[in-house]
Amino acid sequence: MAFDVLWLSQADIDTLGITMLEIMDEVERGFVAQGRGDIEMPAKIGIHTRKDCFNHSMPCYVGGELDMAGVKVVSGYPPNQKKGLPYITGIWCLLDPETGLVRAVMDAAWITAWRTGAASGVYARHFGSPDTKSVAIIGLGVQGRMNLRAMIEVFPHISEVRMFDPIAGQSARYQTDMQPLLPGAAFVECANPKDCVANSDVIITCSPIVEKPQRYVRAEWLKADCLAIAVDYDSAFDAETMSKAVSFTTDNAGQYLWTQEHGVYFQNGYPDKAGLHSDLGEICAGTKAGVRTGRRTAVLMGIALDDVMTGHLIYQKALERKIGTWVQL
Ligand SMILES: NC(=O)c1ccc[n+]([C@@H]2O[C@H](COP(=O)([O-])OP(=O)(O)OC[C@H]3O[C@@H](n4cnc5c(N)ncnc54)[C@H](O)[C@@H]3O)[C@@H](O)[C@H]2O)c1
Repeated sequence: MAFDVLWLSQADIDTLGITMLEIMDEVERGFVAQGRGDIEMPAKIGIHTRKDCFNHSMPCYVGGELDMAGVKVVSGYPPNQKKGLPYITGIWCLLDPETGLVRAVMDAAWITAWRTGAASGVYARHFGSPDTKSVAIIGLGVQGRMNLRAMIEVFPHISEVRMFDPIAGQSARYQTDMQPLLPGAAFVECANPKDCVANSDVIITCSPIVEKPQRYVRAEWLKADCLAIAVDYDSAFDAETMSKAVSFTTDNAGQYLWTQEHGVYFQNGYPDKAGLHSDLGEICAGTKAGVRTGRRTAVLMGIALDDVMTGHLIYQKALERKIGTWVQL
């Protein structure tokens, strides 16, 4: 028996005009559900066909009044940059929570790009200083762009963006794309990570995740009052940045601790259970409060919950606007 499935390409999703603020609000609603204990989300599992490359499977059910489910199949291949291919690719499936039927299949690169920036934005909403003026971005690819977009939504007084990327030309391309969003800000190309983070109020690292991290950003280089967000697991910030912070937060405590216990990440001095201040479920549901002074740090791994909240929003907008292609399964 055949049934209808909505196919949404990256170009389809682009035409919907969904904003970073809308996605931040949806992702935050998801974290509230997490904090209430309303989600079922195993830690992501994966295979690794090449060194430093991953293919992950990421299912999540958001229960309660939201009642949404989905699963993502996503790949991350750092060598793709040299081949002119995207680092992150994949598909996301919307599942009917009543029947389990696949309702939609859509591009997961778009979802991953935007929901990851949005999760950083939600963290910054609760931990950021309203006086934030200087933002440092290390790794000037897709996430470097999305994370700055989210910071623009949270911090109205950004006057400086400090940039570091080891690949020639990345800073110039980044500035061309991002300056229109912050016309009055100075974009400063930095020769090394140390110069990039100096005196910055917010530091976000978006470089490739590697199994043997260099952890090339040192705690001693950071301002006493700053927000340090790792989008790239433990590849960039040293252990002291995280373990000696006034608060260390992650998106989902269970997944962080599972990953630390079962994998190669978050070893050698990264905070364990005792060192965890909070996860975003606790913060957004209000069972723990954010902190706004001192060095506040976060590892935001990117979780299937973010995908469900974003994918469902896309599906609703696509139905309203009659975008996409119906196919039969
Ligand atoms: N936490 C999450 O939810 C989540 C989601 C998506 C991607 N990611 C991770 O974010 C990172 C960036 O992903 P992306 O999609 O922006 O990739 P991308 O390929 O678009 O960008 C990566 C950038 O890092 C630069 N780079 C390479 N080596 C570097 C180094 N040693 N120091 C600093 N910069 C370096 C590259 O030149 C490139 O500009 C990856 O580690 C990816 O796995 C995390």
